[in-house]
Amino acid sequence: MKDNILEIKDLSVGFNIEINNVEKFFYALNSINLSFEKNKIHALAGESGCGKSVLINTILKLLPKNSLIKSGEIIFNNQDILKLKNREFRKIRGNQISLIPQDPFMSLNPLYTIENQMLEVLEGNSAENIEKIKWALNEVKIKNIDNVLKSYPHELSGGMKQRVIIAMSLVQNSQLILADEPTTALDVSVSNSILNLLLDLKEKGKTIILITHDLSIVSNYCDTTTIMYLGDIVESADSSKLFKNPMHPYTNALLKALPTKRGERLENIKGQISPITDIISGCKFHPRCNMASDVCKMKKPFLCNYDCHKVSCWLYQKTSL
Ligand SMILES: Nc1ncnc2c1ncn2[C@@H]1O[C@H](COP(=O)(O)OP(=O)(O)O)[C@@H](O)[C@H]1O
Ligand SMILES: [Mg+2]
Repeated sequence: MKDNILEIKDLSVGFNIEINNVEKFFYALNSINLSFEKNKIHALAGESGCGKSVLINTILKLLPKNSLIKSGEIIFNNQDILKLKNREFRKIRGNQISLIPQDPFMSLNPLYTIENQMLEVLEGNSAENIEKIKWALNEVKIKNIDNVLKSYPHELSGGMKQRVIIAMSLVQNSQLILADEPTTALDVSVSNSILNLLLDLKEKGKTIILITHDLSIVSNYCDTTTIMYLGDIVESADSSKLFKNPMHPYTNALLKALPTKRGERLENIKGQISPITDIISGCKFHPRCNMASDVCKMKKPFLCNYDCHKVSCWLYQKTSL
């Protein structure tokens, strides 16, 4: 039995959206089942708009007002966090589960110095707490610690702010770290150093869910990879398996769309991801899929397990129309 830190069961989430003055409900996540083993880096990948942030925000109970959780459980440390009251969950968010956002500025308070906001997390400015934040800043390889502590967020570069956020998750001793496109706003060399910090966090026993639209960073850093498309999981496996033998046509298309070492792309994925307000019958990827047959247009495939490699595609399932 794998030791899972987080299990998502049958999770369906959507939004009430007004179209032509009529409010209707549209699904952004469809019956998601996923488990995350402790002490690993798990990638959640797919193009923009496929539901990655909705999933993360559901785990963090940060969904907007027009959202609705239709079904599901999110089991963290043996309790269903969806059943917790906001007051109870606030003890978990930031302490046991923390977020590294795409834009670090969003989670730092512009009015306080880094020292003040890190001490606030620890609830007090004892000498012991100051030592602890210095230790954390050192762990994320910040050199001029005394200067950084006295700085306001706007005085730091994007990469430095991201390091400070990771240091905060260290002082809070979070077990699970959700990183939502943490390097998208950074240039390549800074981005690599932040990803290397995620590997250090794993060495310290943390579990990380890394959300990305960029598969090129996944194979080097992540133990498992899950590919999402329009609110469905279409493929999920250990990264080594998935990159060696990508099964779903969407995964293959994402891989072919990656720039080669010489900066060329083999192919672009045809078409665009649809908004959730478009209702697509059968497999949601079929309008963009070169391999689609009649069954794909009519019936939705199931996520099936082929030797610990899960894929939801009629190419691999026996069908009867
Ligand atoms: N508050 C909202 N109201 C309506 N639709 C939303 C809302 N938030 C997200 N969506 C829609 O849900 C889908 C998934 O969004 P998101 O999870 O942000 O995608 P991504 O994979 O890029 O993180 C998108 O179609 C997006 O437009
Ligand atoms: Mg997102």
